[in-house]
Parts: sequence; C-alpha cells; structure tokens
Amino acid sequence: MSNTNSSTELQNGFGRVIGIGSFLPKDVLTNDDLAKIVETNDQWITERTGIKTRHISDPKTDTTESMAIAAAKAAVKDSGIDPSEIGLVVVASTTPNILFPALAACVQAAVDADNAMCFDLNAACPGFITAFVTAQNYIRSGMVNCALVVGAENLTNYVDFEDRGTCILFGDGAGAVVLKADENVGYDAIMRAAGKRGECLRCESYMQKGREKTPEFIKSNYINMDGQTVFKFAVTEVPRVIDNLLTKTGTDPDEIDYFILHQANRRIIESVAKHLKQPIEKFPMNIENTGNTSSASIPILLDEMKKAGKLGEGKKKVVISSFGAGLIWGAFQTEI
Ligand code: UT7
Repeated sequence: MSNTNSSTELQNGFGRVIGIGSFLPKDVLTNDDLAKIVETNDQWITERTGIKTRHISDPKTDTTESMAIAAAKAAVKDSGIDPSEIGLVVVASTTPNILFPALAACVQAAVDADNAMCFDLNAACPGFITAFVTAQNYIRSGMVNCALVVGAENLTNYVDFEDRGTCILFGDGAGAVVLKADENVGYDAIMRAAGKRGECLRCESYMQKGREKTPEFIKSNYINMDGQTVFKFAVTEVPRVIDNLLTKTGTDPDEIDYFILHQANRRIIESVAKHLKQPIEKFPMNIENTGNTSSASIPILLDEMKKAGKLGEGKKKVVISSFGAGLIWGAFQTEI
C-alpha cells in the first residue's frame, strides 16, 4: 500500500479526480481599499506577495457552510455522478461557522449524498491536501468508492484589520473535488508535521472558560503570524518534500506538467520553482485575484485551470503541495 512514506513506485487503485467546483464571494477588497484601513500601499503588497485583490465574504449571505455547499454542488455537477454513489464527504476548514454538526454533514444534506459518511478536518492551510490524502486512503482500502473533498474558509472573520502584516494576505472562498476509484490512476503522497515549531502561526478560540477577555486575549482570537518564520519554513520544506516525493515515485521533475502550490505568496512559489529548476510557467497562480484562501486555495485553482482547459482529462501529471500552521506540510502526485 502506498502513502506509507516508504514505497518507491506509484500504486494503482486510488481515486481519480472526476469533478471540480469552486465558489468565490462576489465582494472584492483591493490593495487600495486596504491602504485606507492600515498603513500600506499597492506597490508594497504587490511586490512582497503578488496579491492585488481578494474576495471577501458578505456577512449577510456567505458563511463557510454556504461556500462549502456551493463549491461541493458545482463539483458534483461537474463529475456527472449520482450523489448516492458518494461514500465519504470530508470538509477541510480552519474557520468553520459552526462547531457542530460537521460542515461535511451540511454538505452531505445539500448535495443529497445520502450514503456518505462525513467528517471535518482541520489542518489549516494544508487542510485540503490532508483531506485529499485521507480520502485516497479510504478509497484505497476499499471502504468507499467515491469521495467528495472540500476546502472552505471564511478567513476574513479571523483577520485583525489593524495588523498590516496579516490583513493584506487573506481572502475567502471554497473549492471541491470528487474522487472515484480507478485502477489506472497514479497517486502517491508524503505528509509531514513539526508541531514543535507551531508558535509562529496561531489563532485561539474566543470560547475558553476561565480566560479573561483582556486585550491580549482578544488579539489572540485573530490570526497571529510571524510572517518571516513562516516564509522561511515554506521555502525550505516545500522544495524538500517535493524532491522527496519525486524520488519516491521515480519521477523526473521535467515529466511533471504542473506544480500546483498553496497560493500564499508569489515569492514562495517563485523560490520553489527556482529550487526545482523548473520554469515558472509550470507553477499556475491565481493569488493575484484571490489572496491566500488557506485550505480552499488549491481546489479553487484546480477549478480555474479546468475551466481554462488546462486540466481535467486525466492527462496532466501534477504535483500538488501545501504548507501552513501546525506546522504541517506535504505533497501528492497524481494525474488530473
Ligand atoms: O498559508 C501560510 C500562511 N502564511 C504565509 O504564507 C506568510 C509567509 N510570509 C509572508 O508572506 C511574508 O513574510 C509577509 C508578506 C507576511 C511579509 O513580508 P516580508 O517581506 O517578510 O516583510 P517583513 O515582515 O520582514 O517586514 C518588512 C517591513 C517592516 O518594516 P521595517 O521593520 O523594515 O521598517 C514591516 O513593518 O515591511 C513592513 N510591513 C509593511 N509595509 C507596508 C509589513 N507589512 C506591511 C504592509 N505594508 N502591509
């Protein structure tokens, strides 16, 4: 069985991506809008991050749940399957609007996946790849034949709009894929974590018995980040895990059509491309218009790529990699 971090060949009998969908809220926040809120400017944000605009949820209409459902419905429609075939719904989110029931159960109800088991998973930004890897193992084990994997985030709920180091980065949205067992699909993954280095990216729950609501505590309920430490972690570990994965699958980097990375910062992506000695054209990006949407970033990008005719017929060899709070990171290889 693959995904044990020890095999040397791609294995068969995993899930193939047969449907992709996404949802972005209609409201857009530009760098110039942010410059009216904090001391920043379009040039600084563009040069340091690659971000120009980000979609932000409308508090009247958009919740993590509603965005997850919209993306899931689009992915199921795109797949063409009968929803009763879905055996697993897993939603990755680090910003759910409800603690229970699981968002996955809400998605299950909305898409009529009446035969599915459901759970949510929180692995912060790498939540989508963690959910994807989890679903692949449910398929590989034979427990389910078809899975719906969603990444959904309402990060602007947790952004401190007085902190110019974080409020410029994040956006909202959701993306989803449908996986179906296929003996002929290649798939392998490596996942890693370093909880001992997790302090650099943290957000505490407001609901903590016994915690006085001091200004420090209230600050801790927003996204707190040491940006430089996260940046260094990403540019070190992402190329390393991709190198390790390619070695494990016996694939030359030149054989990979696309390296699809978590959209956190254009400079991180450029650094990974340089390390892997691969042209930047093989690293698709939409960060300019979405910002960092955490666990939603990869499926939103996959959907854009499919709609642009770059993916979807199972012919493109891709490596997909993400990183973030935990610290957690990893990569998988497949064909889409
Ligand atoms: O999903 C994973 C989540 N997180 C990430 O991927 C974040 C990774 N890190 C980053 O993307 C970058 O570290 C940031 C974009 C957050 C910051 O860029 P940086 O190049 O690391 O800037 P810095 O924090 O070293 O700050 C450089 C300067 C500082 O001023 P001084 O001390 O040199 O005078 C900051 O105060 O830039 C200042 N600064 C800003 N200036 C204008 C910080 N934020 C801003 C801002 N506008 N928004």
